[in-house]
Amino acid sequence: MTGAEYGLDLPNIQAGVVRPRPPHYVACYLILEVLDAEAGRTLVERLIPYVPNAQDGAGSDKPMIGIGFTFAGLRALGVPEETLDSFEPQFQEGMAARAHILGDRGPSAPDQWESPFASGEAHIALMAMASSKEQLDAAMDAAQHLLDGLQKVRLIYRLDLQQLPTGRTHFGYRDGIGQPLIDGLGMEEFPGQGPAIRPGEFLFGYPNEMGGISVGPSPDEFGRNGSIIAFRKLHTDVAGFRRFLSEQSETPEQEELLAAKMVGRWRSGAPLVLCPQADDPELGADFQRNNDFRYLEQDPKGFACPMGSHMRRAYPRDSLEHERVAANIHRILRRGATYGPMLPEGVLEDDGAERGIVFILIGSNLHRQYEFIKTQWLQDGVFINATEEKDPLVGQTDDPQTFTIPDKPIRRKVTGIPRFVTTRGGLYAFAPGINGLRWIASLGKSPSTAL
Ligand code: HEM
Repeated sequence: MTGAEYGLDLPNIQAGVVRPRPPHYVACYLILEVLDAEAGRTLVERLIPYVPNAQDGAGSDKPMIGIGFTFAGLRALGVPEETLDSFEPQFQEGMAARAHILGDRGPSAPDQWESPFASGEAHIALMAMASSKEQLDAAMDAAQHLLDGLQKVRLIYRLDLQQLPTGRTHFGYRDGIGQPLIDGLGMEEFPGQGPAIRPGEFLFGYPNEMGGISVGPSPDEFGRNGSIIAFRKLHTDVAGFRRFLSEQSETPEQEELLAAKMVGRWRSGAPLVLCPQADDPELGADFQRNNDFRYLEQDPKGFACPMGSHMRRAYPRDSLEHERVAANIHRILRRGATYGPMLPEGVLEDDGAERGIVFILIGSNLHRQYEFIKTQWLQDGVFINATEEKDPLVGQTDDPQTFTIPDKPIRRKVTGIPRFVTTRGGLYAFAPGINGLRWIASLGKSPSTAL
């Protein structure tokens, strides 16, 4: 099917939802509190011209501005109750209330989160991302001006993010390789990326993988072209991760192999299924090859890429032999960006700096996408017959974990895996289409003055 057949309304879809982030980026995430509905709606109205849409050329030098609203935020903006009621219950509850289900306990529990994530004051989430600091600064200056005269909209949180000099994440891995291909959008397809996923999995109002149309909040004018976002700020204990790798290994080569087994890719990005014995950095950097594999056909027992590795859990591809369709209904778009300074290579002691990743996970159904992946695939092991295990890299728990690495003649059980990732905050947001933004801005206006 083509975009035309799906009737994809590109000028009304936020570009940030469907376009990948630029290869080199600096970014800023802001959270605002709305103390007065009309002031909040005025801000939304002022922001609309700055939000690029999916028809604007990819790679344009305009900064990517994205906007989303929490459930509390929509209420603060005066969105009517019947519309609020039309959101799925998980969204209405909000991420902090779902934390016990998502595995956010102990140091990751909402009572430990940074303000304002669990406070109910986080209303509007804004993202600005650009290819250079100059571009971003210009966008931020404009945003500052947009708040002029709006005392009842408060900027309550700001997080600056930028790509590390290595171009990788703090743990040292190349990220952002595995990403679903949205059918009909006309984006470049990389070998192994398919099968193409129907747009309704990521946008309301379009055919989805369940054989129906993804139903968004009503009215259609508000919900259509919108998406649901899970925002996660995750602190990464890089020194702890490095110490763990070194304690478990006798040589640097063994360290790298263990790091690769935990994720399913060497830190270069090269997938274990294609190069199980040694890293192949050229393959890791080659998007024409680095995703082109299948588990069941090439590594059914996980001797190359363990079933419990992060990547194989997060998207088991063809591993679920008789449930191929099932994997397709649990896909999400991932936009990850790093914050905080890099811990210099080789340092094994924590320097106390805050560093980690912010993920924006995009879909149209929290229940069967983000929450399913997090609870059933990352935090549980039933589906891979490892009921006692969690994701070795991101499965959060205070009890030391175990990770099984299939090997011959006997498998290896890595024990005593500590917590490497701690949630610092998170929220669920609705990212409306441009039409939905206009609808919000028009609330409270008489039809003649509405946009
Ligand atoms: C600090 C936390 C995390 C780190 C360091 C991390 C790191 C990685 C890395 C290195 C990869 C392999 C590169 C790639 O295929 O793009 C990956 C893949 C992936 N991760 Fe994570 N991740 C984290 C958290 C999460 C969370 C919370 C989710 C979802 C709930 C998630 C979902 C995925 C998915 C869906 C893939 C792609 C798998 C594929 O397409 O084969 N990750 N991650």
